[in-house]
Amino acid sequence: MTRKLFVTTALPYANGPFHIGHVMEYIQADIWVRSQRMQHAEVRFVCADDAHGAPIMIAAEKAGKTPQQFVADIAAGRKQYLDGFHIAFDNWHSTDGPENHELAQSIYLALRKNELIEVRTIEQFFDPDKGMFLPDRFIKGECPKCGAQDQYGDNCEVCGAVYAPTDLKKPYSALSGATPVLRTSEHFFFKLSDARCVEYLESWTQDGRLQPEVANKVREWFGRDEAGQVSLGDWDISRDAPYFGIEIPDAPGKYFYVWLDAPVGYLASLKNWFVKNVPGDAGAAFDAYLAQPDLEQVHFIGKDIVTFHTLFWPAMLKFSGRKTPDRVYVHGHLTVSGEKMSKSRGTGISPLRYLELGMDAEWLRYYIAAKLNARVEDLDFNPDDFVARVNSDLVGKYVNIASRAAGFLAKRFGGRLSADVGVEGRVLLDGLRAHAAVVREHYETREYGKALREVMLLADRVNEYVDQNKPWELAKQDGAEARLHDVCTVCIEAFRLLTLYLKPVLPATAARVEAFLGIAPLAWEDAARALGAHTIGAFSHLLQRVDPKKLEALFEPPPAPPAPLPGGEALAPEIGIDDFAKVDLRIARIVSAEAVEGSSKLLRLMLDLGEGRTRQVFSGIAAAYAPEQLAGKLTVVVANLAPRKMKFGVSEGMVLAASHADEKAQPGVFVLEPWPGAQPGMRIR
Ligand code: 2FM
Ligand code: ZN
Repeated sequence: MTRKLFVTTALPYANGPFHIGHVMEYIQADIWVRSQRMQHAEVRFVCADDAHGAPIMIAAEKAGKTPQQFVADIAAGRKQYLDGFHIAFDNWHSTDGPENHELAQSIYLALRKNELIEVRTIEQFFDPDKGMFLPDRFIKGECPKCGAQDQYGDNCEVCGAVYAPTDLKKPYSALSGATPVLRTSEHFFFKLSDARCVEYLESWTQDGRLQPEVANKVREWFGRDEAGQVSLGDWDISRDAPYFGIEIPDAPGKYFYVWLDAPVGYLASLKNWFVKNVPGDAGAAFDAYLAQPDLEQVHFIGKDIVTFHTLFWPAMLKFSGRKTPDRVYVHGHLTVSGEKMSKSRGTGISPLRYLELGMDAEWLRYYIAAKLNARVEDLDFNPDDFVARVNSDLVGKYVNIASRAAGFLAKRFGGRLSADVGVEGRVLLDGLRAHAAVVREHYETREYGKALREVMLLADRVNEYVDQNKPWELAKQDGAEARLHDVCTVCIEAFRLLTLYLKPVLPATAARVEAFLGIAPLAWEDAARALGAHTIGAFSHLLQRVDPKKLEALFEPPPAPPAPLPGGEALAPEIGIDDFAKVDLRIARIVSAEAVEGSSKLLRLMLDLGEGRTRQVFSGIAAAYAPEQLAGKLTVVVANLAPRKMKFGVSEGMVLAASHADEKAQPGVFVLEPWPGAQPGMRIR
């Protein structure tokens, strides 16, 4: 029976290019999918851009684009990464596609019919300037616990406290700076606390389909209090206009919260594959596909989005009468030299730069695979380790086997392999063949590290065989022709088997090997076969060593972006630290400030820089600040600027302030103020 697999990776937000964490997940899933295809499973492997939500709407506005244009521009950049890293998705779509609108609405309507949707009035912060309700991420203020300033609406990055946005002190909108006001609004809730959902999810999550550590974590949601109430709460699935999302049927001005329609995007991308590839009624073909009882639905995701995929998503599917996921495979995060990466900025490694530097995608695939297992563990990218593994394993152990034999075969035997290789060679090769099932099983269970260790042990065996039989010496001996032929044949056959075992990880190398050997694309059953008296092609280059210099270049900061910054102003040309050191910036106390007669722009400031005297500085901030606002405050001054004679007197320095490039279009001048603790005279470095 052909295994049927519907496989996805998490849908990336369409608010930026891929970072290395995305690439890691795609590589993990791609290896699994390739191994399945090598067993002739029928796989539909799809992904899509996660297009909706307030952050993307706001980013689009800032970029001066419609959200649709904004996400289309992001989508246009996806292919170079996917092709570059050999990720074999069958389809890439968008959660803003028509299939997703239709599917999300129909799932919602089914849930509503099932009496699992409830409308409630909630109180939420509203930005009166922007005219919109603020998502938690866009409300900032003072932490209610430790008083740290500029903390987000959901938790404090200084003391770790978790709270509601309404708990913040001095809240302000991160969009407009306005003080938000509380407003009521009707929101739609998915009643996850309904006994039907609780019962279903408790069994679904605990029946062995999830990784043990994931099942344990999720179990917390089913803990019961004294009254027998579970902690699983209802889920707020609506957002008010303006919102970039899918409209809720029969509810004007209400949209689905992005996380409602995001996973539906898995189905939408699959359906879109049918639209593109199946003539006739694609919708019917899609429905029939999903109705197959033996279809397995598998999601690869990161550990940060487990609750969405193990609670909300299966419940949405189940109670709208649809097929539920069979597996959710959760991986840990990628760190680089031990450092955590940020969800929005990624890590220091840019996958695009990796490709642009001409680094081989298969080095990264191999390295990541070698460190992956089936558990939810973080994976560290360590540059030295990367060079060592790729060079010693892939080039030193694996490719070396072919290069040691191919030359002799070509020169001495016209590329023809010997039909029989003698007992020693047969034993070695049978040993290699016997490992096919183990290696394949490691791929199946996502124990890629184990699979590759197994393969490298086999490569060690082959290299030992070569060392013992010394083909380079046989080549010089009279009458050793037949042995030389056998030894080289064994090497090539062993190389074919190792290539087969590495193929899910190294698809491009495997394709080059298939061309070199003149064989059909390798599949798992080919482990049981032998090449026999077959003629191979010319050996060409298969895989280079990692040049550590390139790796260094990967970690260097990329060249300054030519594009304007959000402030609308392009960056000044790059400077060295010596250039910066020439500017002597000091903390100063504003002893007094006063208006300047005859100037509407300037204020006269008397500054204490800890020099035992005060300096007079004229500053063009009169429009932004009243003198009494400034007196007594600390600020930052360019202290070694040559004194300048002005109409009103000598100015002995310059006060730093921020402003927009086009002050007319976006007025506002903002004087800098140091954090508490700085003293007059301290240097800024
Ligand atoms: O966390 C994220 O990056 C989400 N965009 C993942 C969505 S996965 C699925 F639900 F679409
Ligand atoms: Zn705090």
